[in-house]
Amino acid sequence: MADLIITIDGPAASGKSTTARLLARKLDASFLDTGAMYRAVTLAAMQAGIDLNDEQKLLDITQKFDFQFSDRAGKMTVRIDDADVTEQIRSLEVTANARFIAAAPKVREELVKMQRHFAAVRRKIVTEGRDQGTVAFGDADIKFYLTADSFERARRRQAELLTKGIDGDLEQIQEAIEKRDKSDESRAVGPLKPAEDAIVIDTTNLSIEQVVEKLAGYVEEKCSKKT
Ligand code: C5P
Repeated sequence: MADLIITIDGPAASGKSTTARLLARKLDASFLDTGAMYRAVTLAAMQAGIDLNDEQKLLDITQKFDFQFSDRAGKMTVRIDDADVTEQIRSLEVTANARFIAAAPKVREELVKMQRHFAAVRRKIVTEGRDQGTVAFGDADIKFYLTADSFERARRRQAELLTKGIDGDLEQIQEAIEKRDKSDESRAVGPLKPAEDAIVIDTTNLSIEQVVEKLAGYVEEKCSKKT
């Protein structure tokens, strides 16, 4: 297992991915976006036209296809059977359907295995998702939980969509985010919640740079105690 494991969990659009990527770059660590894994399985299942409520069929998908996740040059690239689906997995349809895959216990087990394997062959890793500190890496060196109020998260998501030329309605975006929060928090396996030993940070009034600085400060403190 990696020498340094940092987990960042939190709800949709709380800034986890950007924070994790920038923190990893600062620490010269690898970066894992576990949401991309759930999205990739969702896309493969949609393309195969299977019933998204059928857990066994979803599990078959994880075995039938070759999923590759690489974090070269600070970017998470996702491939299914060699086809680059990095952009495709961000579609609104995939985002909405990911909850079926996230609620399937056996699929979660399989993806947690992949996440641990990813960590096992790297020296330092910053991994982000919903269950990284609670399930995948219960004994991580440092666990963070990022939150922000849903209006602010919707505002951020709207700004992100605008950079892709999509003019989304703020109210609808906020509604979709709150719906995802509810399904992430209420599922029986790997629900969204802070680990007991997580450092909880409300990012509502903080810039990404301020969040990264804050997290880096905690990491530095922890590492200086370790040595
Ligand atoms: O973080 P992102 O929005 O890309 O995640 C997509 C979906 O995957 C989330 O809505 C969540 O339900 C699921 N997920 C999960 N566990 C993780 C990461 C993501 O259930 N560790």
